[in-house]
Formats: sequence, C-alpha cells, structure tokens
Amino acid sequence: MKIKVAPSILSADFGRLNEDIATVDEYADMIHVDVMDGHFVPNITIGAPVVKCIKSKLPLDVHLMIENPGDFVKDFVDAGASRIVVHAEACSDLAGVVRQVKDLGVEVGVAIKPGTAVAEIHDVLNELDEVLVMTVEPGFGGQDFMENMVPKIRELRELGFAGDIAVDGGINGETCKVCISAGANMMCAGSYIFKSQDKVEAIESLRG
Ligand code: DX5
Ligand code: ZN
Repeated sequence: MKIKVAPSILSADFGRLNEDIATVDEYADMIHVDVMDGHFVPNITIGAPVVKCIKSKLPLDVHLMIENPGDFVKDFVDAGASRIVVHAEACSDLAGVVRQVKDLGVEVGVAIKPGTAVAEIHDVLNELDEVLVMTVEPGFGGQDFMENMVPKIRELRELGFAGDIAVDGGINGETCKVCISAGANMMCAGSYIFKSQDKVEAIESLRG
C-alpha cells in the first residue's frame, strides 16, 4: 500500500500559512488541517473562514477536534474540505454524522482518542474512507508518540478495514516505521515536517 503523507499545518506559521503550505505541496499527498474548539480539546485553532483561505492543490484532510461536529461539517465542506474526520467521542449519533458528511459529497473519516477502543467504531467501519488513530492525546503538536496505540492499527487491518489508516501525533522518521509495519498507510505529521531544515527529506522519510 502506498504510504501517504499529510503535513499537519498546526506546526506551520499561521501568519504565512500559504507560503508554508507551498513548501510541501509538491511532495505530500494531503494537507492535514487541525480544527480545535477549546471544548473537545483544551486548545483553539482555526475555523472554516481560515480553511477557506488555504491555497493547496492537495486534498484537505480536515480533522475536527470539536464538540457537535455535525453542526459544522457543511461549513468545512463549503470551505474546501475534501475529507472530514470527526471524533467518535464527540458524536452521540456517529452513524448519523458519517452519513451527513457523505451526503455532502466528500470523504469521511473517524478519529479515536488514545482511550477509545476500535470496537467503538465497528458499526461504521464499512462507511469510512479513513480511520485516524490518535497516537497522542489530541490538542497539541510536539507530543511524544504513544507506541501502545499500534495494536489498534493491526486490529483494524485484521477486521478487514481497507481504507486509509492514519496515525497522528509524534510521527517522525522513526515512529512511522512501527505504524507502517502494523498496517498504517497515512502519516499525519506536524512538527517533524514543519520544524525540519529539509521538509522534502522529512516527508520522504515518512514513507517507510
Ligand atoms: C494533535 C493534532 C495533530 C498535530 C500533530 O491534536 O491532531 O495533527 O498537529 O503534531 P505532531 O506531529 O507535532 O505531533
Ligand atoms: Zn490532527
């Protein structure tokens, strides 16, 4: 399976966001956009108006770390999201939100926090383009990779999930390897890419 790399703009310079995106646009596969509301996670980032200003030729993988994501998915689709990823923990009717995203004509993913088991999303797996296995507690960039999340990746593949298995949090040229061996094919990485001297080399080193 080809390994996709999705630089997370959380670690980019928001004052020159499009310039930073331009440095990775030719080499990456998707742009990972972290949306935080200060409630679901203890941090606030950007909303749909800023997403709308992003200039990239790559698909936008929009990771919603917000409460009641169903109330906002249309705004993010209108702003240019190619794929909307909602947190299982934030949805009282996960299947309903997944359907809502699909009905808007974009791809859909579900993210699970470190404390959430794969079993929690069994019912919707067949509908998903992506499962995002969080390998840190969501909210901040630059945290250490949690290797004990790797069995979730293996479990998803053993269940026959054929979509993208993304990992997010603490992913670098070393930690990507164990994720790829377990069956992950999408590396979301913020600080490793945007804080490196050579972003292109950093991206390529995430392909295993
Ligand atoms: C964290 C975000 C991540 C974050 C990862 O809640 O979902 O996408 O940008 O940052 P790094 O790669 O620095 O751990
Ligand atoms: Zn993310």
